[in-house]
Amino acid sequence: MKATAKAHTNIALIKYWGKRNEGIILPTNSSLSLTLDGFYTTTSVQFSEEYTNDQFMLNDKPVADEQFKRVSSFLDLIRQKAGKSLYAAVESTNEVPTAAGFASSASGFAALAAAGTKALGLDLSDKELSALTRQGSGSACRSIYGGFAEWQMGTEENGTDSYAVPIAPAEHWDLRVAAVVLSSTMKKVSSRAGMKRTVETSPFYQGWLDSIPADMKQIKEGINERDFEKVGEVAEANCLKMHATTLGANPPFTYWHDTTMTVMQAVRDLREKGVPAYFTIDAGPNVKVLYLPENEEVIEKTLRTIPGVADIRLSRPGQGVTYL
Ligand code: ADP
Ligand code: DP6
Ligand code: CO
Repeated sequence: MKATAKAHTNIALIKYWGKRNEGIILPTNSSLSLTLDGFYTTTSVQFSEEYTNDQFMLNDKPVADEQFKRVSSFLDLIRQKAGKSLYAAVESTNEVPTAAGFASSASGFAALAAAGTKALGLDLSDKELSALTRQGSGSACRSIYGGFAEWQMGTEENGTDSYAVPIAPAEHWDLRVAAVVLSSTMKKVSSRAGMKRTVETSPFYQGWLDSIPADMKQIKEGINERDFEKVGEVAEANCLKMHATTLGANPPFTYWHDTTMTVMQAVRDLREKGVPAYFTIDAGPNVKVLYLPENEEVIEKTLRTIPGVADIRLSRPGQGVTYL
């Protein structure tokens, strides 16, 4: 009754930003992402009759707060599915900064779902595993797959048709992502709290929703055609629209730091100079830069010289969940 799984984070090119059901995590819009090989989580889950409660160790430290509750509630879903009531010991290692806008909740819950279901002997299809994973963290449902994945929002109240599907495998296109690390400290507003406040109070929110179908159509065409400009333009614009909704929230907020905008400008300057590059930003200050392999050197060099940049981490398209 023990299993270990590894899952990578993903960067959303069309963002998930808002829930229509917070309990079972149903989104207000479909989203699309690229799984990254550079950031991942490895999680072991052991169920045992000897345990009298759940335990969660993250990066070798016992966790007992809100993060523990999220894991324990998710284990309840797995137990329910398997018809078992055993407690579990969970040990997880994040090769990604936790809660800093690098999508640790995506790799974290994808690895937990895969290891947890395997440990209890459940044999789920990818769609079933993705729909279950979704209930731990929405973005995590896309990390079941490698390469490009779309989380289809679905229409069912019970969430059975809200899961991710593969769009193209990692081998389809060597689209690279440079993660510009500005801050690895925990963000003040979690993704969950940020999107909730935005849905409830931002007058710009409807504009965000209205823009999704066209962006989704464009990006799928771009991925299919391996058209870097098309994909980059849609992804960058979609990111800016998502972040714009937070400025309209009450109270207003932004995930950006001053250096976030410095990096955004550096990417625009690169384009002016004829180096194709586009940026996207999740719920945090750190910028992810999309580029093609032939420009890796100039991209890395340029980004490293920006004052305030702590590190650059380069990723290629990553694989889906694996069992160790
Ligand atoms: P991020 O940008 O890192 O995804 P979020 O606010 O979306 O930030 O989620 C961070 C939360 O995800 C953490 O506070 C924790 O509750 C959960 N999390 C992160 N890593 C793991 C992990 N390895 N296992 C279980 N839960 C995790
Ligand atoms: C901006 O999946 O972290 O990164 O479902 O509440 O756990 P919860 O939120 P989460 O939100 C991610 C938001 C985003 C965009 C994205 O990854 O699609
Ligand atoms: Co997250």
